[in-house]
Amino acid sequence: MDKFVIHGGKPLSGTVKISGAKNASLALMPATILAPGSFSLSNTPTLRDITTMAHLLESMGVKTSQQNHTMSIDSSRVSRFEAPYEHVKKMRASIYVLGPLLARYGKAKVSMPGGCAWGPRPVNLHLEGLKKLGASIELEGGYIVANAKRLKGARILFDVSSVGATGNVMMAAVLAQGFTTIENAAIEPEITSLAEFLQSMGAKIQGIGTSKLQVEGVDELRPKNVTTIPDRIEAGTFLIAGAIAGKKGGKVRLENCTPAHLNAIIAKLEDAGAGMRRGDGFVEIQPADEIKGVDVSTAIYPGFPTDMQAQWIALMSLAKGTSVVTDTIYRDRFMHVPELNRLGADVTVRDNTATVVGGQKLTGAKVMSTDLRASASLILAGLAAGGITEVLRVYHLDRGYESIEKKLQGLGADIERVKGEEF
Ligand code: EPZ
Repeated sequence: MDKFVIHGGKPLSGTVKISGAKNASLALMPATILAPGSFSLSNTPTLRDITTMAHLLESMGVKTSQQNHTMSIDSSRVSRFEAPYEHVKKMRASIYVLGPLLARYGKAKVSMPGGCAWGPRPVNLHLEGLKKLGASIELEGGYIVANAKRLKGARILFDVSSVGATGNVMMAAVLAQGFTTIENAAIEPEITSLAEFLQSMGAKIQGIGTSKLQVEGVDELRPKNVTTIPDRIEAGTFLIAGAIAGKKGGKVRLENCTPAHLNAIIAKLEDAGAGMRRGDGFVEIQPADEIKGVDVSTAIYPGFPTDMQAQWIALMSLAKGTSVVTDTIYRDRFMHVPELNRLGADVTVRDNTATVVGGQKLTGAKVMSTDLRASASLILAGLAAGGITEVLRVYHLDRGYESIEKKLQGLGADIERVKGEEF
């Protein structure tokens, strides 16, 4: 397993291009099951999770190939309706095939996704929503076995706003008979982009971008090409890289991003003293001379994303004063804290709240990646730490960040990927 070796303290400046959004692609790819034919998904990032989704679709008979950043998909011949454990255990988003398989073929057998590094990841909202649409759902030997002659429109109200459940149920509803309303729907940009893709394929969806979606089922959809939106979490991560290791007077410019998707992150960075500039497709950060401690409480979009919580804690470790970071989405998502503390941070967690005593001098050490965003926070801390930081098991990062070390090298960071066996 590879590791990253970082010589910290190097100032960052320059321009970095943001890749397509992992969490948009992971919904757009299974959506192609809904209509037979050829699709071209441009600006698809080259990531492990994308490869995992492609392999899952291939195991069903879907043809996929990725050239550079275009994913070509041919869903004409789907011959298997199953997402086996070996795929799902690698990536929970595999459950996104459930809705489309039920909608188009009336059957699906999908392994229950396990938990992840930071705790349980239930799928009850997915299953309850599909049952409302008339699917019979059985749990057999760790598998979700779902059947439906033809799904029928229904009124669905989610107890909790869920990105995945909104995506799955919406993909099922577009081919159901009659009308479906989905209330308390997620409004993350990745869900909006999925809804717009489905609409381009002929689906009838009203309320896109709001928490009340109204779907009128149609009999069939047509293949359409789509451009994947930029990855707002990758963008936020690089903004924090600029803030945490920014060169006095230098600035970091992100291109190929959507500033409107970054409002909460930009606002918090301004509160922390950074100078922010935004325009068509770009955001620039001018690092603060002194980072101020700023409290954050994660929330559903357009609030501060839970996927940026770990990165924010890394930044707050250097800030002046104490800050409080609360995760209201995933109460246990703090696996990064013990590792950050090994780098000299002073963070304590109680329930779903981390208290970060700022003003720490971080010093390099060997640290272990546990999950995608936790690993990102360790890299960010390593950029600011004195001496050498080794971030082990970077396959976690390769799931969701395209060539992160090359992009950081392009900004002046001293970071190398060291290939190797067991670190
Ligand atoms: C998506 O996961 C993202 N993944 C996650 O990003 C992200 O952290 C999460 O949304 C929240 O924004 C993808 O899009 C592939 P949820 P998802 O359903 O859909 C609870 C990353 O780092 N819940 O919106 O699984 C759940 O426990 C990943 O890129 C239920 O209770 O998240 C959580 O507390 C990590 N029952 C809350 O809802 C359900 O059936 C939000 O989860 C489903 C969810």
